[in-house]
Amino acid sequence: MVAGTDLRRAAEILASSSRAVAFTGAGISAEAGIPTFRGRGGLWETFRPEELATPEAFSRDPRRVWEWYAWRIRKVLSAEPTPAHRVLAEWEAEGRLAGVITQNVDGLHQRAGSRRVVELHGRITQARCTGCYKTLEFEAPPEEVPPRCRDCGSLLRPDVVWFGESLPEVDWRKAAELSRSCDVMIVIGTSAVVYPAAQLPLIAKASGADLIEVNPERTALSKTADVSLRMRASAALTALDKLLRR
Ligand code: OAD
Ligand code: ZN
Repeated sequence: MVAGTDLRRAAEILASSSRAVAFTGAGISAEAGIPTFRGRGGLWETFRPEELATPEAFSRDPRRVWEWYAWRIRKVLSAEPTPAHRVLAEWEAEGRLAGVITQNVDGLHQRAGSRRVVELHGRITQARCTGCYKTLEFEAPPEEVPPRCRDCGSLLRPDVVWFGESLPEVDWRKAAELSRSCDVMIVIGTSAVVYPAAQLPLIAKASGADLIEVNPERTALSKTADVSLRMRASAALTALDKLLRR
């Protein structure tokens, strides 16, 4: 149970902010039925990251990697944005939120209506050619795996960041800039252990921003957060939204 005082405190911080930014992880999409990575029921309980989410795994067994991605693409395409995604999109439209930085690859922020979204880890419904680098957007999971490029015949790969790969430079720069310039960062549904992404709330804090954490569990960031709401994303965001509209 969350103390109402924490919710009110978080709402006050947001109400007096002039440049808030959201930083999100898999937990914000958990209620949309998309499994998280860590914790109970998380993907890494059943799958080994190094067998599926690395460039080495892909060169060893592209079919196996693609089968897993096709399964995840199917889940993402049949999911709907949650009330938490929708509240963030509304806040942006109303000028309360300067943008969303997400570690998620599911595209649910954009589908909820968010416009300024930095996707740090890529997008799962997009593939890119390993030969000619052309990208392609899936409207359905690929029927044949591994899929190949129509133009040059090379293997396509998921357009996501794998372990051992660097983040897209432009996106990282945008995310770091948003983190440095915000006055509040609301951190939702991330275990905050995967770097460099997990550095962003620390950059925000070091630049003077307040940190509001929304996560039912304690995380690596909890000791640094100004307020931790131990709630699910949708319950917390709708409660905050209500308080802000009073
Ligand atoms: P994790 O799976 O590590 O963490 C998910 C977090 O969401 C946990 O702290 C949960 O407690 C929390 N959570 C679960 N349900 C929630 C709910 N309903 N509302 C709010 N929070 C909830 O996911 P990330 O931190 O996003 O990287 O993982 C970071 C990166 O690790 C991912 O982007 C991915 C993975 O390897 C790449 O793909 C490069
Ligand atoms: Zn190609």
